[in-house]
Amino acid sequence: MSDDKIFYITTPIYYVNDIPHIGHAYTTIACDVASRYKRMKGYDVHFLTGTDEHGQKIQTAAESKGKTPQELVDEIHLNFKKLWEVLNISNDDFIRTTEPRHIKVVQAMFKQLMDQGDIYKGTYTGYYCVPDETYVPENAMGPNKTCPDCGRPLTIMEEESYFFRGSKYVPELIKFYEEHMKAVMPKIRYNEIMSFIKGGVKDQSVSRTTLKWGIPVPGDEKHVIYVWFDALINYAAAIGYLDDPEKFKRYWPHVRHMVGKDIIRFHCVIWPLMLIALGINLPVEVMAHGWWTYEGEKMSKSRGNVVDPFKMVSEYGLDPFRYFLLREVPFGNDGDFSELALVGRINSDLANDLGNLLNRTLQMIKSYRDGVVPSCVNPQSELSELSQSILDRVDEAMNNYAFDEALKTIWEFIGRSNKFIDETMPWKLAKDSSQAERLNFVLVNLYEALRLSALLIAPTMPGTSQRIWAQLGLTGNPLELQLEEFTWGEGSGNTINKAEVLFPRIDIKLWKEQKEKAKMDETQAQEQKIEHESEISIDDFKTVEMRVARVTHVEEIPRSKKLYKLEVDLGYEKRTVCSGIKAFFTPEELTGKTVILVTNLKPVKLCGVESNGMILCASVKKDGVSEQLTLLTPEKDIPLGSRVS
Ligand code: MSP
Repeated sequence: MSDDKIFYITTPIYYVNDIPHIGHAYTTIACDVASRYKRMKGYDVHFLTGTDEHGQKIQTAAESKGKTPQELVDEIHLNFKKLWEVLNISNDDFIRTTEPRHIKVVQAMFKQLMDQGDIYKGTYTGYYCVPDETYVPENAMGPNKTCPDCGRPLTIMEEESYFFRGSKYVPELIKFYEEHMKAVMPKIRYNEIMSFIKGGVKDQSVSRTTLKWGIPVPGDEKHVIYVWFDALINYAAAIGYLDDPEKFKRYWPHVRHMVGKDIIRFHCVIWPLMLIALGINLPVEVMAHGWWTYEGEKMSKSRGNVVDPFKMVSEYGLDPFRYFLLREVPFGNDGDFSELALVGRINSDLANDLGNLLNRTLQMIKSYRDGVVPSCVNPQSELSELSQSILDRVDEAMNNYAFDEALKTIWEFIGRSNKFIDETMPWKLAKDSSQAERLNFVLVNLYEALRLSALLIAPTMPGTSQRIWAQLGLTGNPLELQLEEFTWGEGSGNTINKAEVLFPRIDIKLWKEQKEKAKMDETQAQEQKIEHESEISIDDFKTVEMRVARVTHVEEIPRSKKLYKLEVDLGYEKRTVCSGIKAFFTPEELTGKTVILVTNLKPVKLCGVESNGMILCASVKKDGVSEQLTLLTPEKDIPLGSRVS
């Protein structure tokens, strides 16, 4: 295999504290499609993804959950692994920044830069966005000193910090970009980066003393290495920068980073400056994609409009989702995600164009030729001719990460093939025995068009490609084949399998009704949830006396379906209370439980029993009736009678 046929592609490593969303899915699917395509073009592909696990947010989240940061990241990084499984991602490796193989490379690189004088100690003062873990330059701040990305207020911070002398290498970086105009794509991002660099790049602060959850600076454990310095190194660590120099030598010269437009400065300025300082050559390309909005609005947790890829896949199927993301928007541009647009594409591109071509062709081969693909004297046609230019155009588009163009081109071929049926009218040919050879020619051509279409869509829709492959009566996995080896006409003699509907059409009217109903149900549920009481003062609250008590005895009340009579021990006295929790516990389950009791409620008589207090529970209610219920109990042992406040 020649050296040119090596393709090393990376996704950003994702922050584990976020729930995986469509943005993460997008980058990773794009890398997956590029990888699968290159494999089908005979490349030795290495596809890396992973998780970014250090930093303030993790430390804070872990503290609030009573876990160690390591315990937390061990748990939550699995959300991403699960998503990649569900999205059928063919990554070759998954790196976590908490793995020793990563940590030791980060420390080695930091040390090398320190030893050669490119990292020095200084003091850093700046406006810092705690949630985003980044200092914000004054000229980039939002109104009222807020973070331009998340809009939250910035905090002034001053700390001792190590600095990376990146400024020293700026002229070299400018020269590199002048000579490599495609090293940042698309062009608009290249221009953005060039003007940013030419505007001046300061030395970067690369350590923090304000947090603990990070990689220690070698020789100065008071500092941890800044998360971005740490994270970027994953790309080199994963392919054996220290441990496997052969592997590193093989893949590194071919590295491509795929990122969102928001993180290009890290990838196209800081990272290359680090690499120049370390004496490592620069990435071949950094490809920046745009951002998705949802139905015209920025996605955010607070708006509750973040598109959940798991949900999309379960509602619409995996391949339609993958297809839609890459077909809908030119890669590099921003795009708007709308479920209606997705449904539209399922119906027109998938069910109609692709599904019909398959169905009609298989039906005809079955009816006219007993399910066996006939032979013909010369299978060359306008379709076979077109197929050559389609392959070339798809290749060019894929080399430029123009996934939408590639798919449009494939659909042009599918459309042309459908038209070929209308023009040649096989149903007429079938009625005239003198047209048998012509009919063979038509059927062979349609079969070949489908065989090629299945191969071409394989990187984007692996599952669908395989389903088509099986229906065409072909064995093996189209993804394991080489596009170059495709020869028009080789399918003659194959026996097809039963035709099955690839993508059932979605009835738009019904779909809209269902969506409306789901929306109404959701709004209703929300409304039910938010039934607030009027505001009270802290003094009002203090009038409620609540104490820790233990349930010592439980009895049924013969006249009541809902109530139990409970004996509770407050340490300083024993009491009888009635509680409407019979539907949720047996007496045995309750006996011995530590609970919180409201002790200064006026006694009431319930079903003939005097109740002297109320046990606190949390519950989910529907139409005023509890559907789920749990007792509130202290998190640790504490003496009975302790006051709750
Ligand atoms: N951990 C850093 C990356 C370190 S790489 C050495 C990070 N992680 S992230 O989880 O916040 O974001 C990862 C990617 O998701 C980014 O490329 C970002 O552009 C992308 N997206 C996040 N929201 C997005 C959309 N709404 N639309 C498209 N992509 C978006 O940054």
